[in-house]
Amino acid sequence: MARLHPALSAAVLLLAVTTGCRGFQIEEATLDAIRQGFSNGSLTSAALVGHYLDRIARLNPLLRAVIEVNPDALRLAARADAERSSSCRRRGGGALHGVPVLLKDNIGTRDRLNTTAGSLALLGSAVARDAGVVARLRRAGAVVLGKANMEEWANFRSVEGSGGWSARGGEGRNPYVLSADPCGSSTGSAIAAAANMAAVTLGSETDGSILCPASYNSVVGIKPTVGLTSRAGVIPISPRQDTIGPICRTVADAVEVLDAIVGYDARDSKATRAASKHIPPGGYMQFLKIDGLNGKRIGIPNGFSNGMDQQIIFQQHLDTMRKHGAILIENIEIPNLSVILDMFINGELIALPAEFKLSLNAYLSDLSKSPVRSLTEIIEFNNEHPIEEKLKEVGQLIFLVAENTTGIGAPERAAIQQLNMLSSDGLERLMKEQQLDAIVAPNVSVADVLAISGLPGITVPAGYSKTGVPFGICFGGLKGYEPRLIQIAYAFEQATRVRKIPTFMP
Ligand SMILES: *[C@@H]1O[C@H](CO)[C@@H](O)[C@H](O)[C@H]1NC(C)=O
Ligand SMILES: *[C@@H]1O[C@H](CO)[C@@H](O)[C@H](O)[C@H]1NC(C)=O
Ligand SMILES: *[C@@H]1O[C@H](CO)[C@@H](O)[C@H](O)[C@H]1NC(C)=O
Ligand SMILES: *[C@@H]1O[C@H](CO)[C@@H](O)[C@H](O)[C@H]1NC(C)=O
Ligand SMILES: *[C@@H]1O[C@H](CO)[C@@H](O)[C@H](O)[C@H]1NC(C)=O
Repeated sequence: MARLHPALSAAVLLLAVTTGCRGFQIEEATLDAIRQGFSNGSLTSAALVGHYLDRIARLNPLLRAVIEVNPDALRLAARADAERSSSCRRRGGGALHGVPVLLKDNIGTRDRLNTTAGSLALLGSAVARDAGVVARLRRAGAVVLGKANMEEWANFRSVEGSGGWSARGGEGRNPYVLSADPCGSSTGSAIAAAANMAAVTLGSETDGSILCPASYNSVVGIKPTVGLTSRAGVIPISPRQDTIGPICRTVADAVEVLDAIVGYDARDSKATRAASKHIPPGGYMQFLKIDGLNGKRIGIPNGFSNGMDQQIIFQQHLDTMRKHGAILIENIEIPNLSVILDMFINGELIALPAEFKLSLNAYLSDLSKSPVRSLTEIIEFNNEHPIEEKLKEVGQLIFLVAENTTGIGAPERAAIQQLNMLSSDGLERLMKEQQLDAIVAPNVSVADVLAISGLPGITVPAGYSKTGVPFGICFGGLKGYEPRLIQIAYAFEQATRVRKIPTFMP
């Protein structure tokens, strides 16, 4: 293919990508609209999947959001259409019936798609069964559209010469400003949602990997309380911090996907049993309340400012929240914040490598087939494929550090205890003392505070820099606070409506 200047090729792509389908506007379509389209006959699942496959084919060379498309997606969509039209199953089973979903490449599917965390080493491995969240999506009727590219782990980025997994799909690009950082590691999921390459997507987070790319790509990301969604069958980093959640264009869509994927899973029993007590009867959709800010106590912790322009917009958003009845508690201090934000001293750099090695080896041993069966073999694979795995550029220091660990011993237990204390004596105590429903901060640095003890967060588009680079606003809370966070995020989104369609600027 001839190489065009990225901005020029983007313009060509924009012209070429037009919506199909009798009268149905697919671009920016919400789940609500898609369902209406299905029921009034202006849209079929096959047309929808066809549209996204077409759009992926056109946009992916530029954006690299998708690592694989599902060769069976059109067939599954046609089946969903047939189910819907057959008189015996009126709306077809499930809230996401016929809806194409893109999954981060670490989420296992037992189909023709590979599950590789973006790595060559895992190409050719096969999972024994669908990941817990995928099983739930399929039960809700969703069609797996493909796998989203993921970047080298954001939470280890601060380690010089980081890396481990290579980006088999190449580096993703921000659809707003092509030269801007799209953030990771759920990069492809966020880009695909932003650029309308899928109806909805799933990402995963250990420390920032949903909230950051969602924020940088002007979409909504929900990072659920750890255990609310099953991690079974997902390539892990840390069972203590990993969580799976939706990345979508609207809060309502994200909440609907959340509803579909939460719940107990025998294959991730301890965490999902503990968290399932938080799931409200009737699910999460009831919290999409236009007056959801009214009466909410929202804390504004110090230490998260992000430059003048962003700060001005953030203050305007705070005014909007006040106008909608929120009670803002400003100038509060999260104890030990500087320690929490520094993974070199907070304990993460001791805990995560040991947790990673144990959980990765467990994941690998559970595969029905795999060219590699241990972290040791992955490191060997990378050494044998230095060019493809970009060993010179990114190395595999994380893997080497993890390989050196020998389980959860005294130092790891101490690190984990410190992480728990930093949270319980920090944000958790502060929120209880101040009786907060949520905290709010610009951009994403608050993600670290939520990460260390599995607290939930939602990011919503908040604005664009002078050069058009998006940023979000992040609401965080205590375990199980999803209902309040959803009320706040939805009311905020409806009051501000910041999100614009990306225009692929250079
Ligand atoms: C069907 O619903 C969609 C989504 O709301 C709408 O855009 C379209 O105009 C409707 N078409 C008809 C024929 O009612
Ligand atoms: C999965 O990877 C194999 C290479 O091992 C490739 O041939 C196949 O096309 C991939 N599957 C999909 C759906 O892209
Ligand atoms: C947190 O702050 C308190 C009070 O300043 C201090 O005593 C404690 O050692 C700090 N904890 C950590 C882990 O730094
Ligand atoms: C692993 O442990 C060995 C032996 O203690 C040490 O020499 C090496 O530097 C360690 N490697 C890493 C990456 O920490
Ligand atoms: C958001 O925060 C990150 C990290 O502090 C920063 O690199 C990025 O530039 C910020 N985004 C904007 C649009 O200012």
